[in-house]
Amino acid sequence: MTWSTLSIVNEKSISNIETYVDGNGVDRLHDAVLAGTHPDGWLPTWDGASYAANTSHHRALDGWFLQHFPSRRDDVLLDIGCGSGDFTAVVAELVADGEVVGAEPQASLLDHARAVMRPNQRFEQVSAQQLDTVFPRDSFDAVFSRAVFQWIPGQDYPGIFSTVRQLIKPGGWFRLECGGAGNIKAILPLLAEVSLRHAGPPPPWTFLDPGTILDMLQAAGFVLVSPQADGMAGYVNSVAQRRPFTREELIGWMRSQCFQGFEIDMPPGNHAAYRAEVEDRIDELQRRDGTYDLTYVRIDALVYRPA
Ligand SMILES: C[S@@+](CC[C@H](N)C(=O)[O-])C[C@H]1O[C@@H](n2cnc3c(N)ncnc32)[C@H](O)[C@@H]1O
Repeated sequence: MTWSTLSIVNEKSISNIETYVDGNGVDRLHDAVLAGTHPDGWLPTWDGASYAANTSHHRALDGWFLQHFPSRRDDVLLDIGCGSGDFTAVVAELVADGEVVGAEPQASLLDHARAVMRPNQRFEQVSAQQLDTVFPRDSFDAVFSRAVFQWIPGQDYPGIFSTVRQLIKPGGWFRLECGGAGNIKAILPLLAEVSLRHAGPPPPWTFLDPGTILDMLQAAGFVLVSPQADGMAGYVNSVAQRRPFTREELIGWMRSQCFQGFEIDMPPGNHAAYRAEVEDRIDELQRRDGTYDLTYVRIDALVYRPA
């Protein structure tokens, strides 16, 4: 189905469609996703157990993420958006003589994270936008975040980055990984088209390009050069990853961490029909090789607070 066909299917959505799609089709959709605006406090509700059962596509990349993670055994670290806490617990082992604090706004996810925590962990129920209400300046040796910022409106990034710099001790680092421009491009048209037909929103995510992230991080006071002469070089990259999914795993991904982002701005009476229609059409996402793999594009950054 083309976007012009979609306009005919739902007259009410024409203005939405034209806002988000122009002659360049999907590329324009990404420009709109990039803008990512939501009201203060916007947060789709997730279930901790359901999310924890569907994190394998993230966990498969733990080793890759940790290749640029200059932690020391006694560091005190902050994990922004720790979710169900499985990766937070991995990091807790790396800082066995230190501590990892998980910041997460959703109670259900925190319940699960507490169930798998190690002794050198604690948690705070707080959003990325509110970190400075909970943590004093210079609280952490370093801060990290995985797969979270795509859920945060782009307009909030500058303020959050500025707060994060203040929470890190001078000379500390910030390691950021999240969805970037081009992320899960193959699946967006289906999700968006069905959502709009059920009076729902366009894709809820913010997928910024690395240049914009670099500019924002530098404006917040971060630098790429390590304050340590022998430290890891900083960078802000975009990286494409093919993440393996079976049909069942892709449905699990949608149910645990995707549909909620659309349903929050969709009439409740339409949720079941929305889910059913997307799942009915899931075979449209099958690749020629028979898999349901998704191509992710991630922002991958390591930056420093000057000493
Ligand atoms: C895909 S999960 C990633 C969780 C975890 N970091 C991991 O790697 O498994 C996204 C997480 O972002 C959290 N999140 C969404 N909006 C947030 C916000 N404004 N501030 C902090 N966390 C947020 C969600 O609650 C969820 O736990």
